[in-house]
Amino acid sequence: MPVPVFSTVDEVQGFCLSQQKAGKTLGLVPTMGALHKGHLSLVTLCQQHCDVTLASVYVNPSQFGPNEDFDNYPRNFEQDVALLESVGVHGIFAPTNEVMYPHGFSCKVQPPKIAGSLEGELRPNHFQGVTTVVAKLLNATRADVAVFGQKDYQQLVVIRQMVADLNMATRVIAAPTARQSDGLALSSRNRYLDADQRERALSLSRALKQTKSAVEAGNIDARELAVELMQNLIDGGVDSADYAVIADAATLEILEVVDRPAVALVAAFVGSTRLIDNLLLSE
Ligand code: PAJ
Repeated sequence: MPVPVFSTVDEVQGFCLSQQKAGKTLGLVPTMGALHKGHLSLVTLCQQHCDVTLASVYVNPSQFGPNEDFDNYPRNFEQDVALLESVGVHGIFAPTNEVMYPHGFSCKVQPPKIAGSLEGELRPNHFQGVTTVVAKLLNATRADVAVFGQKDYQQLVVIRQMVADLNMATRVIAAPTARQSDGLALSSRNRYLDADQRERALSLSRALKQTKSAVEAGNIDARELAVELMQNLIDGGVDSADYAVIADAATLEILEVVDRPAVALVAAFVGSTRLIDNLLLSE
C-alpha cells in the first residue's frame, strides 16, 4: 500500500490520534524535502524509538531571509515520497502554505536566547521561523519523539530549549551527521556545487577534523584553536567564512578554554552556496 500523504492538520491529527489511541508511540522527522541519506538516517533512528514514524515535508518560508534561496530551494516531492516509502515511514505530512499560515495567522514563537548568536546573528528571524514551524508540527502531530540532526547543531540546541521552556511533551532525539566517504556533510544544498566547488567544500569537514585532532593532542586554548580553524577553512579553499568558533556543546557559549564538552562550528561560502558544519570535540 502506498504511504498516506496528509495535507491538512485535521488529516494528520486524525491519523496520529488513531495510532496513539491504539497504544502506539509516534515519532516525527521534520524535513524540508530534497531528501538525502542524512534525512533517511533520521527516519531509521526514529523508528528505533517509536512504533509509528511520520515525516513532514514542508519548505517553510518563514525561516528564509529575503535574500536567501527559498524560491530556488530544491523541491522534488515525488522522489521524496518514494524515498520515505523505501525506508518504511507510516505517513507523510506535506502541508501547503495556506494550511500552515492561513489568512489571519499571527502568532510566533520567540526563540530562546541561544538563537541570537552564530546563525541567528547572520540570519535574522531564521530561528523564529524554525521554532514557530516546529512548534506547529509538534502540536499538529503530538509526536512522542521527534528527531533532529546534529548537522544543524544550533537548530538542535534551540529546539531542545524551546521544548523544555514551553513544557512540550515531545522528546527530542539528536541524530549524528551523515557524511559522504570523504567527509562532506550531506546537505540538500550540496547539489548547488559544481565539481571544483564540491572539492573546496571539503575544507569545512577537514578543518573541523584538524581542530578535533589538535584538541586530542592536548591543545585546549580555544581562542587559538578558533583562529587556526578559520585559517584552515580559508586555506582549504572556501571563498569566505562567516564564522569558525569553539563553543560549549550544551549552551553554545564561546569558550576560551576547552575544559568541558565542546563543539567546533563553521559556516562558509563556496561560490554562492552557504554551507555549515560542526564537530563535537569530545564525546
Ligand atoms: P532540513 O534542512 O530539510 O533538515 C531536516 C532534518 O535533517 C534536520 O533535523 C537536519 O538537521 C537533518 N539533517 C540534514 N542534513 C543532515 C545530515 N547530513 N546528517 C544528519 N541529519 C541531517 O532543518 C530543517 O530542514 C528545517 O529547519 C526544519 C527543522 C524541517 C524546520 O523547517
